Amino acid sequence: MPCAPTDDGGLKATMEPEIASWQRGEGRRLLERVGVSAGATVLDFGSREGNYATAAAHLVGPEGTVYALDKDSKALEGLADRLAAEGIRNVVRVQTSGDPPLPLEDASVDVVLAYDVIHLIGWRGGESGETVRRSTASDRRPVLAELARVCRPSAVLSIYCPHLDTHTDVDAEEDIIDEVAGQGFHLRDGLHAQLVHDSKMVRGHIMNFAKASAPATARNRPFPMPQPGHN
Ligand SMILES: C[S@@+](CC[C@H](N)C(=O)[O-])C[C@H]1O[C@@H](n2cnc3c(N)ncnc32)[C@H](O)[C@@H]1O
Repeated sequence: MPCAPTDDGGLKATMEPEIASWQRGEGRRLLERVGVSAGATVLDFGSREGNYATAAAHLVGPEGTVYALDKDSKALEGLADRLAAEGIRNVVRVQTSGDPPLPLEDASVDVVLAYDVIHLIGWRGGESGETVRRSTASDRRPVLAELARVCRPSAVLSIYCPHLDTHTDVDAEEDIIDEVAGQGFHLRDGLHAQLVHDSKMVRGHIMNFAKASAPATARNRPFPMPQPGHN
């Protein structure tokens, strides 16, 4: 179940200056373009240390809430330290088993961020880090269905899915687009942007999905994916 932010960390979170700068600048603009706005409820699915959750927390402001959800209790403990150190009070940490259901209400979330996590659903690695079991569509389907359940009709599901070729049974984003479409979403847009990936800055491709029932507007109408340098 959701647990309130704690201030039991005591450790000052150390954030790379480059990431801190990204959070104030390009990362903030990216999340705005995804659809994160003041007062919104955001689910950061697979938040780990919260580079996106904390950036979103500043955008949603005191009237908004960010659920930082992860199955890794140590990651969420680290996030508690960071929230305390940075004085962030609108992030609610949520620990799960990793399996559905998610402990969130139906139609309660405006934006889901699922960044660098889709390939890990059902994936297992060996002790030396090699893949011993790949993520399959059958693993991902119930989790994507849960993300659809918690989304409001106007919600955005924003996905960044690297590592498909090494960790999953598919190797192209188009396959993930089809899987997400199977849960009642359509691709709204794609953004090539500077991202934080494994605590490093990389150029990556974000896919933003809207619920199929959402009216097409200038903001959410589907259009061809932009190519690098044309976002
Ligand atoms: C590679 S990290 C990405 C962290 C963050 N989203 C980012 O992009 O910086 C993936 C995180 O997802 C979490 N995770 C993987 N599968 C999950 C699941 N089924 N439910 C919740 N968390 C999961 C892992 O514990 C890990 O902290």
